[in-house]
Amino acid sequence: MHLESKGFVGAPRFLGIDSANREILSFIPGFVPDNLGEFSGAQLFSAARLLRAMHDATTNCDLKGGSEVICHGDASPCNCVFADGVPSALIDFDAAHAGSRREDLGYAAWLWLDIGNPETDAEFQGKRLTDFFVSYGEVDIRDAVPAVIDAQVRLASRCGAPRAAREWTERNRARLMGLQEQDLVSSEFRIDSRSLPSVSCGRSCG
Ligand SMILES: Nc1ncnc2c1ncn2[C@@H]1O[C@H](COP(=O)(O)OP(=O)(O)O)[C@@H](O)[C@H]1O
Ligand SMILES: [Mg+2]
Repeated sequence: MHLESKGFVGAPRFLGIDSANREILSFIPGFVPDNLGEFSGAQLFSAARLLRAMHDATTNCDLKGGSEVICHGDASPCNCVFADGVPSALIDFDAAHAGSRREDLGYAAWLWLDIGNPETDAEFQGKRLTDFFVSYGEVDIRDAVPAVIDAQVRLASRCGAPRAAREWTERNRARLMGLQEQDLVSSEFRIDSRSLPSVSCGRSCG
């Protein structure tokens, strides 16, 4: 309801409570991926902007207490509705909580880029990671790799599956970060001149 009052349209609207005390939310037409997968530069840009817009809409939400924003908490491609191929709305706010932009962004970057997938080149991932953070804006892109690792560590403490992803990221840390240093110089320019190749994988979100 807060998001709606702030003019953020990229989330289901609250429609009421049914007789079994369940929330009724609006249905957002479009496509929701079942798995992590292949996303173009334009799709990644939209995903990062969507998360940014959601965060911006929560900066004066009462629920955030002393925290920076309300985090989505599970901003993966599998909780995003694509309209005409463009990430357009976030769904599944079950894990929403008061927190920081950094934690939500690090987690989102990890899953949107599938960082830790051994089939994808680390330098290529480093470049896309920079682009993802630059697209979000207003964050320190030198902190991108640590933010991803922190998200992987947080989730690994709750379940075993992300351990391999975290180990891959730590192993490739230097290669991931090497490109970021260079990109710092032209980061503003890159927002308008994006044309990123897509990457394929096809691993499960679960
Ligand atoms: N508001 C919505 N609009 C459109 N599709 C939705 C909406 N909410 C859920 N879905 C569909 O239902 C699936 C499961 O919903 P989700 O809330 O993500 O549950 P889960 O906890 O199982 O991940 C989504 O992947 C999506 O396909
Ligand atoms: Mg979901």
